[in-house]
Amino acid sequence: MNLVVVSNRVSRGKPNEPMTGGLAAALLPIVEKSGAIWVGSSGRVRDGNQKEPFAEIEALGAGALAMLDLPAAHYGGYYEGFANSALWPALHSRADLIRASHEDYLSYREVNAFMARALLRFRKSDSAFWIQDYHFLALGAELRDLGVTEPIGFFLHTPWPARSVIGGVPHHRELIEAMLAYDLIGFQTEEDCENFLSYAQADLGLAVHDGVILSRHGRTRAAVFPIGIDPQQFAQLATKASTHPDVSRLRRSLNGEKLAIGVDRLDYSKGLINRIKAFDRMWTLHPSLARTVSLLQIATPSRGAIEAYGNLQSDVAKLVSDVNGVHGEVDWTPIRYLNKGYGQAVLAGLYRTAQVGVVTPLQDGMNLVAKEYVAAQNPVDPGVLVLSKFAGAANELDTALLVNPHDIDGMARIIAMALSMPLTERRMRWEAMMAKLRGHTIQQWFADFTDALRECQLDRDALAPVIAEPARWPLRSANNNAPRYH
Ligand code: F6P
Repeated sequence: MNLVVVSNRVSRGKPNEPMTGGLAAALLPIVEKSGAIWVGSSGRVRDGNQKEPFAEIEALGAGALAMLDLPAAHYGGYYEGFANSALWPALHSRADLIRASHEDYLSYREVNAFMARALLRFRKSDSAFWIQDYHFLALGAELRDLGVTEPIGFFLHTPWPARSVIGGVPHHRELIEAMLAYDLIGFQTEEDCENFLSYAQADLGLAVHDGVILSRHGRTRAAVFPIGIDPQQFAQLATKASTHPDVSRLRRSLNGEKLAIGVDRLDYSKGLINRIKAFDRMWTLHPSLARTVSLLQIATPSRGAIEAYGNLQSDVAKLVSDVNGVHGEVDWTPIRYLNKGYGQAVLAGLYRTAQVGVVTPLQDGMNLVAKEYVAAQNPVDPGVLVLSKFAGAANELDTALLVNPHDIDGMARIIAMALSMPLTERRMRWEAMMAKLRGHTIQQWFADFTDALRECQLDRDALAPVIAEPARWPLRSANNNAPRYH
């Protein structure tokens, strides 16, 4: 199988390159080892009507990376507009933040169509396409329109929300119907998958049986593939990083004080405001913890041109300054706030230095920081993970201290508990989490998805005579009382 992987953001594989999210970090080792070709945005735009999309291609381990310049006229409407001001808030259950014009939607569709045309260049007789994330919901349908018959899979890195929330996205029916051109759609959790199937059945009126949706495109299988990391490789990175100058400086600066760490993109889904309020509350309720623990919060700027992100940046900065003003002393700063990105080679060492990892999103697809924090720990003296029950990772890492990020007092209490947890309990919880990480590695995720994609193709071939005569659309009348088969 000649695998073509597609995502908006890509990574060039430089360990010191700041990472702005989990997807790029996760796909990198897969492309390097599997020999896939990874196609994404170069981050640059190009004017004019490109007949042959401009791509810069470089080797990436056994694979290759192709970075495309996206069309200038549509980039803003696609990325800042429809993808990140309509889909992103909806996917994270923030329907109140949905903002998108019809032009944004058209630009989103244009960029999906542009990407489909660009992919033809990488198509071979035994190709399979694996499309990543919400930037390209309609890419499968565009590829089919261009005559592509090879297997096409899609994986969503974010959550998929309840029907009523996704229904707040302009053109949701058209878009989700287009998604059914995929043979296989992968989700992070059972709940995401259930939400999607329930939309297909109740809103699109389609027949759903055992996770398979029947539509005018044929059969689409929806299934759960929780994304993992390479825990062994990350642990090695963390051991090596202990001599990194930034990590050594951090350790020296602590003077025996404990450290809690948070590492997030500066995004409203990450729950930064609630987390900082929880630390504020903890120092107020337990004044003896002042000077004994500080929080290192790395918040990498992201999507700054979007109003909601600009507002968040100033709100977080103001709150940090207020909390430091109240609890700080002449020689002690409670929150060390860094508004920039770091490469994984440093982050791994920072995680290992911290006695508590705080990963408390309001809503998150998986959250690989949670997994990386666990993998980076010293097995002899591991730190404690405080994890939101609304992160996909909570399904597997259930021996972390699970918190409700909306309950500030509860979080304050649990962070204080994490700081005083005895070594035996810390080890027991950590070992159970490491066992889960070892059982669901990124390599396993890749193998599970690509195997399932191959099976879908076999099913499609077997059913070819049946789906050659497409059923009338929609197959079932849209009806909330329609029987559920899944
Ligand atoms: O969660 C979805 C995702 O694609 C992640 O991989 C990453 O955290 C983030 O979104 C990247 O966002 P952007 O490319 O807009 O910085």
